[in-house]
Amino acid sequence: MAHFAHARVDLDAIADNARLLRERAGGTPLMGVVKADGYGHGMLPAARAVLAGGATWLGTAFIHEALALREAGITAPVLAWIVPPGEPVAAAIGADIDLGVSDRAILDEIVEAARHLGRTARVQLKADTGLNRGGVGPADWPQLVEAAARAEDAGHVRVSGLWSHFACADEPGHPSIARQLSAFHEALETADKVGLTPEVRHIANSAGLLTLPEARFDLVRGGIASYGLIPIPGYTVSGIRPAMTLRSRVALAKRVPADSGVSYGHRYVTERETTLALVPLGYGDGVPRAATNKGPVLLGGRRRTIAGTVCMDQFVVDVGDDPVRAGDDAILFGDPSTDPGVPTAEDWAEILDTIPYEIVTRVGARVPREYVGGA
Ligand SMILES: Cc1ncc(COP(=O)(O)O)c(C=O)c1O
Repeated sequence: MAHFAHARVDLDAIADNARLLRERAGGTPLMGVVKADGYGHGMLPAARAVLAGGATWLGTAFIHEALALREAGITAPVLAWIVPPGEPVAAAIGADIDLGVSDRAILDEIVEAARHLGRTARVQLKADTGLNRGGVGPADWPQLVEAAARAEDAGHVRVSGLWSHFACADEPGHPSIARQLSAFHEALETADKVGLTPEVRHIANSAGLLTLPEARFDLVRGGIASYGLIPIPGYTVSGIRPAMTLRSRVALAKRVPADSGVSYGHRYVTERETTLALVPLGYGDGVPRAATNKGPVLLGGRRRTIAGTVCMDQFVVDVGDDPVRAGDDAILFGDPSTDPGVPTAEDWAEILDTIPYEIVTRVGARVPREYVGGA
């Protein structure tokens, strides 16, 4: 290992996970969600891996992400769903990128760009069915679909998709799920009445595709589960495996006496004479500072806990009298089936009261990604 640390990304795991998700979704076509640098795994390798695993669509948040896919020669259908005013919609239309429409003003901007280019823009209208984030709510939906139908008749847009997003799919049985599904059906009916004929209707994310057969429609959007992480605490899916392992090495190990305060603020104090191991990864690399005295690490063959404050570039682990030396492996999270005893990103999320998405996406640019598989 040339670097002080690396995030090893198993591309076969991503491809196999995509394959499993398609099976779990009863063969419904899968959109691999690769926004935010492929949830920290690297957008282009992740995109190629999910496509190899049978995904037929890709999803990004922003146009610049979708354009990067095109620039890399990826020709699969791509939806970019956050389109604030002033985004490069003309470039997106030219690159055959489907654009999410969450607002009437954006539709107008896209129509104008398409008219100017003399091309037909592909748009996917987003219904806000209760998340109250992006999307057009029930009061404005009829006008939006009418305006889109007129623009389609004029040849400026093709309404390729109608879609929505769940608020609480990761809490199976949550009453909002049924309400959102019913609101989505209503939105689809309204669109049908004005003559829209979308190629794809979709609402399910990973949690939805795993637990809600009634939410599959024509496409499911699988993000986190493609990376081998399950968004529903306590829910397991056999065969799904984490793709990322965050590994470093002990930079130095030294004996200190009892009652030694460790790291900034002396938030950890040794109980007896002990060995402290320094791991050169910190919040500058995405290890949350909130992992102070909490973060789990597999080091010297045992699972241990970070001792004291996580610094920008390093943290300390108290290894007692174990024979830990500089150069020994320190694994923060990974796949317990390949590294027995290793914490998972889900473990980190639970301990830090967050979600595994945040653990993997925040692994910093300073940490090189090392790819295996994907031949
Ligand atoms: C609109 C939308 N669809 C799908 C996804 C994928 O969700 P998940 O990673 O839970 O599968 C996301 C991710 O946040 C999203 O914002």
